[in-house]
Amino acid sequence: MKIEIANKSHYQYAAVICDTIAESAKIRGTGIAKRTPEYIMTKMDNGNAVIALEGDTFAGFCYIEVWGHEKFVANSGLIVHPDFRNQGLAKEIKKAIFNLSRSKFPNAKIFGITTGLAVMKINYDLGYEPVTFSELTDDPAFWNGCQTCKNFDILTRTERKMCLCTGMLYDPAEKEKNTQHKHEYNGKVFQRLKSIKQAIFLKKEKKK
Ligand SMILES: CC(C)(COP(=O)(O)OP(=O)(O)OC[C@H]1O[C@@H](n2cnc3c(N)ncnc32)[C@H](O)[C@@H]1OP(=O)(O)O)[C@@H](O)C(=O)NCCC(=O)NCCS
Repeated sequence: MKIEIANKSHYQYAAVICDTIAESAKIRGTGIAKRTPEYIMTKMDNGNAVIALEGDTFAGFCYIEVWGHEKFVANSGLIVHPDFRNQGLAKEIKKAIFNLSRSKFPNAKIFGITTGLAVMKINYDLGYEPVTFSELTDDPAFWNGCQTCKNFDILTRTERKMCLCTGMLYDPAEKEKNTQHKHEYNGKVFQRLKSIKQAIFLKKEKKK
């Protein structure tokens, strides 16, 4: 498996990346921001994406978004093709995009919002902490990306204070002061948080 910083030579994979993201969201029944192949290509062009290939076959992808005049970056669009799941590939891709983010934007806070328990675990292991949305970027362009998510009504009615996604943040300034997590990772806590939010925000028949 080759994991590398994507460039123009990877344009051919933009369509399969978008299709895999959309298909996975449909199967999970969860909301997700929509991506176009053109958008993915821009990320490749700017050196702001990581791609995993097994020979010539697409295996996984993730990209960097820059928000609030480089005060924040997000590592978004993480996708591992179903054929390559449960082998630790997402963890490797996230590590690669995290390292790329740290080297290109050393002063930026790195954040993500996700409903995925696997992603929460990976982020936590990388040093992210769960935070309220108020600690994330207030760049409207970021939050506008949520408009294509089917849970957008929740974000709107909570006045952007919370949604089904959990916000997680890596603050380099904080990490310099304190390299240790205050608590061991506890997957049950994240699972419970997700269940509580679903119970509050989703009608019974919508719950997934
Ligand atoms: C989520 C996804 C990226 C995981 O990819 P993967 O390569 O199978 O993940 P990994 O094998 O690297 O697993 C990472 C960790 O998460 C755990 N994990 C995997 N799936 C999990 C799940 N459904 N629930 C809880 N933990 C899970 C793994 O056990 C592993 O933990 P470990 O460090 O203790 O071994 C992949 O399933 C996917 O592409 N899903 C669809 C798109 C998606 O959900 N993207 C995230 C949007 S924010």
